[in-house]
Amino acid sequence: MSEGQQNTNSASITDIDWNRLKAEAFEVSKRAYAPYSNFEVGAAALTDDGRIITGCNVENLSYGLTLCAECAVVSSLHSGGGGRLIAVAVVSGSGQPCTPCGRCRQLLFEHGGPDCLVDGDGTIRTVAELLPGGFDAERLAQG
Ligand code: THU
Repeated sequence: MSEGQQNTNSASITDIDWNRLKAEAFEVSKRAYAPYSNFEVGAAALTDDGRIITGCNVENLSYGLTLCAECAVVSSLHSGGGGRLIAVAVVSGSGQPCTPCGRCRQLLFEHGGPDCLVDGDGTIRTVAELLPGGFDAERLAQG
């Protein structure tokens, strides 16, 4: 997180069991359906009510239809009762951190907000850092 930036989430960086999140992300990466890229991805997130939810990437023969691991996490968030994402770890099938793509940064912004913490490259950053100036509800309302 940048100097001076506030994390208004209920959990701070140090409260979060990042090793567990990364381990769960790695486990679920083994269930990825990635026959086209052979790049398996797993994501695991802590929710504001303490759940840990996971998801893997699911590719499609029509490549542009691919669902990223983070998409699966967002679906799991809502199908499991809703809420907000507090912290997210993303890893590839090799177990290394995987930086979220641009579309997934916008998804995490919507469902975790700017203070949601992300380990996507070995450094914990906020979504605000990953997506400066993200498209938000306020801008939508301005027409
Ligand atoms: N992928 C994700 O699952 N999440 C990301 O944020 C980056 C990319 C997947 C999509 C595709 O199945 C594979 O990685 C290669 O791009």
